[in-house]
Amino acid sequence: MTEKRGSFSGKLGFVMAAAGSAVGLGNIWRFPYLAAEHGGGIFLLVYLVLVLTFGYALMKAEIALGRKTGLSVIGAFKKLNKRWSFLGILAAIVPIVILPYYSVIGGWVCKYFATFVSGGMEQAAQPSFFGDFISQPFEPLGWFLLFLGLTALAVLLGVDKGVEKVSKIMMPVLIVLAIGIAIYSLTLPGAGDGLSYYLVPDFSQFSATTVLAAMGQMFYSMSLAMGIMITYGSYMKKDVNLESSVKQIEFFDTGIAFLAGVMVIVPIFSLGNMDQIKPGPGLMFQSLPMVFNNMGTVGNYVGTLFFVLVMFAALTSSISLMETVVSIFRDKFGWGRKVTCGVVLAICLVLGVPSSLGNGIWSGFQILPGQDFLTFCDFMTNSVLMPIVAFLMCIFVGYIIKPKTLIEEARIGMAEKHIKLYEGTNPVRRFFNSAHITLSRVSAPISHFRREPMFSAMIRYIAPVCIVLILLFSVLSAFDLLKYIGLSV
Ligand code: PFF
Repeated sequence: MTEKRGSFSGKLGFVMAAAGSAVGLGNIWRFPYLAAEHGGGIFLLVYLVLVLTFGYALMKAEIALGRKTGLSVIGAFKKLNKRWSFLGILAAIVPIVILPYYSVIGGWVCKYFATFVSGGMEQAAQPSFFGDFISQPFEPLGWFLLFLGLTALAVLLGVDKGVEKVSKIMMPVLIVLAIGIAIYSLTLPGAGDGLSYYLVPDFSQFSATTVLAAMGQMFYSMSLAMGIMITYGSYMKKDVNLESSVKQIEFFDTGIAFLAGVMVIVPIFSLGNMDQIKPGPGLMFQSLPMVFNNMGTVGNYVGTLFFVLVMFAALTSSISLMETVVSIFRDKFGWGRKVTCGVVLAICLVLGVPSSLGNGIWSGFQILPGQDFLTFCDFMTNSVLMPIVAFLMCIFVGYIIKPKTLIEEARIGMAEKHIKLYEGTNPVRRFFNSAHITLSRVSAPISHFRREPMFSAMIRYIAPVCIVLILLFSVLSAFDLLKYIGLSV
């Protein structure tokens, strides 16, 4: 390969890009709805426990796999064990299928931003606005192309100059907007009731369904089982502390999801109607514009900022999806970045056009009954392929290459950090550095002693069982069969 593979400049770049990937549409429309549906505070609690145990282990495993091999998903599995190349191929299918339909939804977000910024709030708040818009043949396609073009531009510029730079600009803006809008939501009349609805655990709603829904959301939100974290790990330098990076990514992802709940549920509770909390696009594209409209003139500004936030969140996620696909093709065929971007764009057009038209003139084209093309792609990836990939990955790490291999990879950045600290020439700094190193040498084995068996147990036993349960749950709920095993959605 003539072109360099590229890498993130350092820890900040890596964390921003990976958090940018994780924070997306999943955090802003999916999380608030699920939290509201599954008992508010109890869902939050279950979600948090899962993120800190299960999610932590899986994300650490994926990033370490990428960094160890220096390759994207197909190459990574193949390099570690030739017989497991099939898993790389299976995982590679996920972002290829997700990216086109994710860009269609990203295009809808751009349309809403444009509508709000041009003062069209009242129009956007009409109940028929969303349905009329997405069922048109040409306009949504135009917005899809715009969103896809912006994504491709960042990917074309490369890992450090494109993906990393865009994330470093968009993520801080996104965080400030999320905090600002959440604070504003708390000033609305009746915010206290909305907040307690969102936060106070309703234990009567706790069931196996709550745990399974939280687990599914965790996968979705943390961009797991789709090769993204493996690819980003392959761009991570060896001197970056992998464990603390994972913690920071989780902190951003969960923090934004939490704030999204405040931004969405509190105003709907205060100015709207709880019946308006429905899954999927309806919540963000139909209920929220009505709520912004109920705020009066200020709603136009809040709505505009809200859709900027969603647009940034969706863009950094779609960039990670496209970068993953580009990286897979480049590693496999040795193509240059420009050529690969062209090929990936062509694939996106082929799959994106039916995803967009499936809401209108091609709605009759259904692979599974009752599912338009976009819903079908979403179902096949999130409910079927991702759990299968995650399950096989746990088997691969837990029993084929063994958790020890990845634990060693995760330790590399820590050792490097200590060596770097010791390098200073200033005698005072050298004193504190050596004290720090001594302390770390004493405390690190103790914390590793606690953490590493947990990592192994998660990957070998707990995660595979949970994943099989998610797979069963998603498939049964899609075919409305949950009631036969005594569960409900
Ligand atoms: N983690 C991102 C989100 O929450 O939106 C990105 C993403 C997740 C994309 C799941 C696609 C997907 F199926």
